[in-house]
Amino acid sequence: MAKKERINFSKIGAIAAATGSAVGLGNIWRFPYLLGESGGGAFLLVYILCVVFLGLPVMISEFSIGRMAQANAAGSFRTLAPKSKWWLVGLMGVISAFLILGFYVVVSGWTLEYIVQALSNKFANASTAQLNQVFTDFSTNTYRPVGWMLLFTALTCFIIIAGVKNGIEKSTKLMMPLLFLIIIILGIRSITLPTGTEGLKFLFKADFGKINSEVILSAMGQAFFSLSLGMGCLITYGSYINKDNNLSSTALQVTIFDTLVAVLASIAIFPAVFSFGINPAQGPELVFITLPNIFSRLHGGYIWAVMFFVLLALASLTSTISLLEVIVAFLTEELHISRAKAAIVSSLGIALLGILSSFSLGIWKDFSLFGYGFFALFDSITSKILMPVGGIFISLFVGWRIDKQKILLELSSNGKYKIPFLNIFLLITRYLAPLAILLVLLNQLGLTKWLGF
Ligand code: TRP
Repeated sequence: MAKKERINFSKIGAIAAATGSAVGLGNIWRFPYLLGESGGGAFLLVYILCVVFLGLPVMISEFSIGRMAQANAAGSFRTLAPKSKWWLVGLMGVISAFLILGFYVVVSGWTLEYIVQALSNKFANASTAQLNQVFTDFSTNTYRPVGWMLLFTALTCFIIIAGVKNGIEKSTKLMMPLLFLIIIILGIRSITLPTGTEGLKFLFKADFGKINSEVILSAMGQAFFSLSLGMGCLITYGSYINKDNNLSSTALQVTIFDTLVAVLASIAIFPAVFSFGINPAQGPELVFITLPNIFSRLHGGYIWAVMFFVLLALASLTSTISLLEVIVAFLTEELHISRAKAAIVSSLGIALLGILSSFSLGIWKDFSLFGYGFFALFDSITSKILMPVGGIFISLFVGWRIDKQKILLELSSNGKYKIPFLNIFLLITRYLAPLAILLVLLNQLGLTKWLGF
C-alpha cells in the first residue's frame, strides 16, 4: 500500500543512494577483468556507448515508474497498470534481488577476509603461487567464507532496519565520498608507477579491430549490471526521490559517477598490472590474486592493500542494501509486515542461498543443477535471463503502456524542467532498448550463434 506521505531522499541523498547501488563489485571486480579480456580501449568505447544510449534511458525509465507510482517494484506496476499482469515484472525483480544477493554476499564476504589478511600483512613477500593457494584454500573452505558472508548479510540487514533516511541515505552519504577518495588515491599511486603510461595506453587506446559482436554484447550486459538495471532496484529507489527533483539529471549524474568509478578502478589496476609484467586478461581472480600480488611488491604495499579491500567492501555494502531494500519494500507494502521483521526474514533466506553458493565452490563442487553449481546458477539465471527480461519489459512499459503526457509531467516535475529529449527517449524505450536487450538475451542463451550472427 503506497502511503500518502512517502519518505523522501534529499537531493544529495538520492544521488548517494543510487550511486551506491550502481557502484559495486561490478565496477571494481568485474569491469576491469572484462576490459582486460576484451582488449582494453575498444571495450571501453563500446561500453560507454551502451551506457549512454541504453543504460541511461532505462535508468530514467525505472526512476519514473517508481516516482510516479510511489511504491515498491511490484506495487508500482500494479498502481500504474491496475488489473493487468504487469506487476509480475516487479515480482520477478523481487525474486531476482534474492538470487543476486545469494551469490553477491559471498563475494562481499570475501572482501572482509581480504581486509583482515591485508591488515595482518599476509601479502608481503608472498609468491604468486602462494597467493593463488591462499585464495583457493579460502574460497573453497567450508566455514570461513560462510562466517564472513553471514556477517556481511547481517550488516546489510541492520542498515535496512534503520530505514530509508537513517539507514540507506545516511550510510551512503558517508560511504560514497570515502569510496571516491580511496579510489582516486589508488589511481594516482598507480599512474605514478614507472609503467603508468603503458597501462593508460592499454586502457584508452581503442583498437577497433577488437570490436566484435561478442565484445558489444558483453559490454551491454555489463552496463546493465553495473547500473543496477532490469530488476526494479531503481524503481524502488525512484519511489523515494522527491517530486521536485530533476529525474533525468539525477540519472545522468549517477551514470557518470558509476562509469567514472569503473574507469578509475581500471586506472588503479592496469598500470600496476603492466608494471609487474602480469597478463591483463586475467579473469575473475584479478582482484583477489593479482592485486595482492601487486601490493606485495609495491612500496608501502600494506596500506594500498588495506585501502583497496576497504574500498571493495564499502562498494559492495552500498549495493547489497539497495538489493535488500527491493525485497523489504515489497514485503512491508504488499504483505504488511513490519520493516524489521521483513528485513530479518529476507536476510535469513539470503543467508541460506549464500550458504548454498559458498558450499558450491568447495565441499559441494561436484553437485550441479542444470549444469551449474549454486553460485554460478544464481549468477547465470539473474544476469542471463531475469535482468534482460526485466529490462525489456521496463522499457516497453514506459514506451508503450504509460501515456506520453504523463511521462512528460513526471520527467519535468509538472513543467518545472525542460525535457527536449522526450522523443529520443521514447524512441529508445519503444524500439532500440527492447531490441538491443533482446539480442543480449538471445546471445546469453547461446541462440545468436544458432541464428547465424
Ligand atoms: N550494480 C551493482 C554492481 O555493479 C550490483 C547491483 C546492485 C545490481 N543492485 C543491482 C545489479 C540491481 C543488478 C541489479 O556491483
